[in-house]
Amino acid sequence: MKLWSGRFSANTNELLDEFNASIEFDKNLWREDILGSKEHAKMLHAIGILSKNDLDSIQKGLDSIYKEIENGEFKGFVTQNEDIHMAIESSLSERIGEAGKRLHTARSRNDQVALDFTLYCRNQNLILQGLLKELMTTLLNIAEQHTATLMPGMTHLQHAQPISFGYHLVAWCAGFKRDIIRLQNSYDLSSECPLGSAALAGTPYNNERENLARELGFKCASLNAMDSVGSRDFALDLLYNIAMVMLHISRVAEELIIWSSAEFNFVTFSDTFSTGSSIMPQKKNPDVAELLRGKSGRTFGNLMALLTTMKALPYAYNKDMQEDKEGVFDSINTSFISLKILNASLKELKINTQNMLKMCQKGHLVATDLADFLVTEVGIPFRVAHHIVGSCVAFAESRGVDLSVIDISVLLPFLRKEIVESRALDSKDSKFSATLQNLDSNVVSKDSKKTNLDSILDSKTLKKVLDLNESMKRRTSKGGTAPKETKQQIKTLQKWLKQL
Ligand code: ARG
Repeated sequence: MKLWSGRFSANTNELLDEFNASIEFDKNLWREDILGSKEHAKMLHAIGILSKNDLDSIQKGLDSIYKEIENGEFKGFVTQNEDIHMAIESSLSERIGEAGKRLHTARSRNDQVALDFTLYCRNQNLILQGLLKELMTTLLNIAEQHTATLMPGMTHLQHAQPISFGYHLVAWCAGFKRDIIRLQNSYDLSSECPLGSAALAGTPYNNERENLARELGFKCASLNAMDSVGSRDFALDLLYNIAMVMLHISRVAEELIIWSSAEFNFVTFSDTFSTGSSIMPQKKNPDVAELLRGKSGRTFGNLMALLTTMKALPYAYNKDMQEDKEGVFDSINTSFISLKILNASLKELKINTQNMLKMCQKGHLVATDLADFLVTEVGIPFRVAHHIVGSCVAFAESRGVDLSVIDISVLLPFLRKEIVESRALDSKDSKFSATLQNLDSNVVSKDSKKTNLDSILDSKTLKKVLDLNESMKRRTSKGGTAPKETKQQIKTLQKWLKQL
């Protein structure tokens, strides 16, 4: 007999039983359900609904159910019990008789499920934060060792400017830091307790909701009963938070896949985190990273599914809302295993610094440095400098060499000629022309020792301007890739992790 069968004269259809039941998956909420019932019972005793004896036998009964479930011996996870709330309540009544039947006073499955699921999401939120913290710690440990390891920084997946490998890892960490803050914010947003809202309209009992809330670890009781049984914002927030975590993981995974290809060869996955091919004996595949990239998809789907379920639902509870759980469970499992395996495989990742360095000598990574030099030391407007350096790049290309390794004695005369010619083109720009005229006529420049273009632009200076390491070291602006600045960023993040 069902707990709610009083007004029915026929048994439900078997198909309905199967369709309606959520026990198969909401049994995950058993801990929270038992905890909620224990606190609810205490409250009922405090307001005189339950005698001390009833309360004691309810607590004992719930404890014995807890132990059975923990040991895998509980027999109540069957379709006939419909959901976790009825499974535990009916098992309790079987054990202790009438006292068990008093427990559902002043509550509904609507506030019960809202409580259980909120508590569950809050607990998982904290675990997720811990896993993110571990991942960041690993990344920062690696970053610390590579604040001066050159690699080509990219935009459009094309070589752009030299950066350090450590700096790249810190960029990943900045995203993971926001993920943790997002989780903290969601945790705060879910700190109102739904228990005591009953079906939708509250209850005539003085159910001491503020006290219940505190006992269950919330900040306060929820403001409005209809809202708290009719909303799933807390689950949507968690789904969105997880989607963002997985989005970040998918980008990390994508870069690891690219970097581990023969074309890049920046990193090598350890054998323990690599897979083989069933036909090609030579293959070593980055399946871990590919799965990490691929699994983000289902977490976006879970978010979209619940958004769609909740859209346009009339207040308060609707059975549609039972669809809230499986996607959340799936997103939680997916993100947990993803964070764990990413962390573990990173610890064993081999970093091929020599290949990174070699690849820095492609794509004229130091071109911006030369333009900046022409701006700051020669007084050329950036747009003109950009054009001059463009011709230098074409010049280097025509000789099949990179700007960072070009023979300075060949580049220097070409560059000087380009500067002088650009002045003619830019004669309308009076300020720029004046600078060059000054240079020509030996007027003392910014550096008082240097008096003309030839002395400002000597081969030693130009070599330094075009040096890859110097280029990286030069980017000292806050948030830049200079080793000193990267170390600072690492320290800031480590300090932040410590106070979590
Ligand atoms: N199994 C239900 C769920 O997950 C519990 C709430 C049922 N409430 C109801 N009024 N039928 O949403």
